Amino acid sequence: MDSILVRGNGALEGQIAIAGAKNACLALMPATLLSEEPLTLINAPRLSDIRTMSQLLQSLGAEVTSLADGTVLAMSSHALTSHTADYDIVRKMRASILVLGPMLARDGQAVVSLPGGCAIGARPVDLHLKALDAMGAELDLRDGYVHAKAPNGLKGGSVKFDFASVGATENAVMAASLAKGTTVLENAAREPEIVDLVKCLRAMGAQIEGEGTSRIEIQGVDRLHGATHTVVTDRIELGTYMLAPAICGGEVELLGGRIGLVGAFCEKLDAAGVSVTETETGLRVARKNGRISAVDVTTEPYPGFPTDLQAQMMALLCTAEGTSVLEETIFENRFMHAPELMRMGARIDVHGGHATVTGVDRLKGAPVMATDLRASVSLILAGLAAEGETMVSRVYHLDRGYEHVVAKLRGVGADIERISET
Ligand code: EPZ
Repeated sequence: MDSILVRGNGALEGQIAIAGAKNACLALMPATLLSEEPLTLINAPRLSDIRTMSQLLQSLGAEVTSLADGTVLAMSSHALTSHTADYDIVRKMRASILVLGPMLARDGQAVVSLPGGCAIGARPVDLHLKALDAMGAELDLRDGYVHAKAPNGLKGGSVKFDFASVGATENAVMAASLAKGTTVLENAAREPEIVDLVKCLRAMGAQIEGEGTSRIEIQGVDRLHGATHTVVTDRIELGTYMLAPAICGGEVELLGGRIGLVGAFCEKLDAAGVSVTETETGLRVARKNGRISAVDVTTEPYPGFPTDLQAQMMALLCTAEGTSVLEETIFENRFMHAPELMRMGARIDVHGGHATVTGVDRLKGAPVMATDLRASVSLILAGLAAEGETMVSRVYHLDRGYEHVVAKLRGVGADIERISET
């Protein structure tokens, strides 16, 4: 397993290009199952999760060809050769559950392994199933798999989500696109990745209204045609790299960034003493004046503060002036980066869904271990400004969601390298 070695190296200067959104792409790729015609995605990120989704779609009989150094995905699914998403793939990546709705809508049958939990939480899929049930699907949970049938096709239905689940909204929107009649989703998730998915489905001929609001209405159509779609910029990669100059000092421009993608996050950065300026080509980020001030953060569904930026924000607040309280309301176990940051001298008290961070002058480099995708990049951010060396192990977590992280940070002056274990 590879590690990444980071040495505190002072202020950062330059530009970082932001890739297409992993979490948009992981919902867009299963959409190819909804049509026999080709679906091409441009600006796809080059990540291991994308390769895993490609393998899953290919195991179902879809063709997925990676072009232009992995930034273009040419997909088509003339006829599915299998309707089973195996546990060995699904357990590696929870987003695999997103083939359930499209496969059921396309062929009236789907057998998808329950994803099981992951490091940050139990991750149930009850809301996904509630939506498909409302569309008339016959659902049978056995042997760790969801056995879904719709022999006469899905029919429009209404569902109110107990929680604004991103994945359940995506599965429901894709399934409803080919259902007979109208489907109404209440308390739907509003994330930009859902807006991007609807934009793509509409280009394929779907009739959908209300994306980006908590009420989405889908008028099913008989068939969808092919399309070419450009994946939206990754707001979580954007927010992650915005924190690099905030933590280290200096000034960095994030190419492709737009304030609209990270509104709530920018409000917190502003309160903490970080300036964000929208330019023609992206977002320019720098500290306003010297030290960072403590701020309180509560994660919420979009448009609130993103849970996927909580770990990274904590790395900034470890050396802020004062005490910050971070409240994690989305996942039940998303503070695993805290003990690792404490190895670097951070002062953090975790009680249930709250972490209290008391700022220290400077962190000290140490060997630390990545536990999940966002925790791993939080440790790298902390290492950028720490005194001495930080060795982050198990960086395969990082490869799931961040392409070329070493090259991107070296490009703005960071002292960082990847150590391959022989
Ligand atoms: C998506 O996960 C993202 N993943 C996550 O990003 C992100 O953290 C999350 O949305 C919240 O924004 C992808 O898009 C591939 P949810 P998802 O359904 O769809 C509970 C990353 O780091 N829930 O909105 O799984 C669930 O347990 C990843 O890129 C149910 O109870 O998120 C969780 O507590 C991590 N029943 C909460 O809702 C359900 O049926 C949020 O889940 C579904 C979810």
